Amino acid sequence: MNAPTPTPAEALRTALAGLLDGLPPKQATQAVDRLIANYRGRTPTDAPVLRDRSDVAAYAAYRMPATFEAVRSALDAFAAAAPEGWAPGSHVDIGGGTGAATWAVSATWPTERPVTVLDWAEPALALGRELAESNPLLSAARWQRSRIGAALTVESTALVTISYVLGELTEADRGSVVEAAADAGETVVIIEPGTPDGYARVIEARDRLIAAGMRIAAPCPHSAACPIEPGKDWCHFSSRVSRSSLHRKVKGGSLAYEDEKFSYVAATRLPAVPAQGRIVRKPQIRKGQVLLDLCEPEGALARSTVTKRQGVRYKAARDAEWGDAWPPAEQSAGSTD
Ligand SMILES: C[S@@+](CC[C@H](N)C(=O)[O-])C[C@H]1O[C@@H](n2cnc3c(N)ncnc32)[C@H](O)[C@@H]1O
Repeated sequence: MNAPTPTPAEALRTALAGLLDGLPPKQATQAVDRLIANYRGRTPTDAPVLRDRSDVAAYAAYRMPATFEAVRSALDAFAAAAPEGWAPGSHVDIGGGTGAATWAVSATWPTERPVTVLDWAEPALALGRELAESNPLLSAARWQRSRIGAALTVESTALVTISYVLGELTEADRGSVVEAAADAGETVVIIEPGTPDGYARVIEARDRLIAAGMRIAAPCPHSAACPIEPGKDWCHFSSRVSRSSLHRKVKGGSLAYEDEKFSYVAATRLPAVPAQGRIVRKPQIRKGQVLLDLCEPEGALARSTVTKRQGVRYKAARDAEWGDAWPPAEQSAGSTD
């Protein structure tokens, strides 16, 4: 009997497992420490942070499972809003590094397409190419050295992803990369850490994408201004990442999973239908009722209480998770509560 084909998440996990083989544990730990210090600093640099093989191996082992899951969640939300049966005919991943977003795209839409990864860090591209050898949908991907800046050119494509990159750029470069993405992409998906700063960068990008004539497909149910008062709160979501033993070794700790918080926006020129509402906090389950905090199509935040008397809808509310569309697709026709 043939072994079942691994999912992209499993294939990525297996590919990552071999990564630190041959790298002395001390060197791996030092590379992770350096990485954490650099990312904590969060200052844009004029040279790549990922300088050599141990940096990128540490990045891939330490961060890639989490960035993969965050991008995956954002793409799932976009896929639910996209026209039925749509899949991107081509994909460009800007600041793609070791390629987490390319794995996520191939997991969401498991069909062949031209894939291009742009990054200024050659060691990241080299490792990305190596990992991609174990994913047939990525084996023909092009890994191109390219610097984000005013001179960046991006070929026309169905889908552009920019995942966990904006925070490494100067304000001017953030503007140029989002504009280049909006020029080149029919759909643009941007993901950032789920922190107040990450959210602020997503909102700034969202404004630019709308100004470029795109519409928001997810997470917002509307393309109006974000109803969150700046500085008061931040829109973010959470994705569960199971940790391999390798991941535990590199990151320390023994938890079997961690929750990756992220903010995102998906904008498109396709005739997408955004969710009727989006659950923007963890639902609160009380006796006989579920409290849902929603972002609504009119561009406002509202609390909806779903009670046991609502039967099927109550059952759905009990199963609903932070980040889900509400009501669920099969119940959404003609209803907003
Ligand atoms: C935090 S990593 C994210 C990698 C990948 N997108 C992911 O989600 O795992 C940031 C990436 O942006 C790249 N980067 C940062 N500034 C850049 C620039 N000015 N030009 C090109 N790439 C850049 C880095 O080399 C790195 O690979």
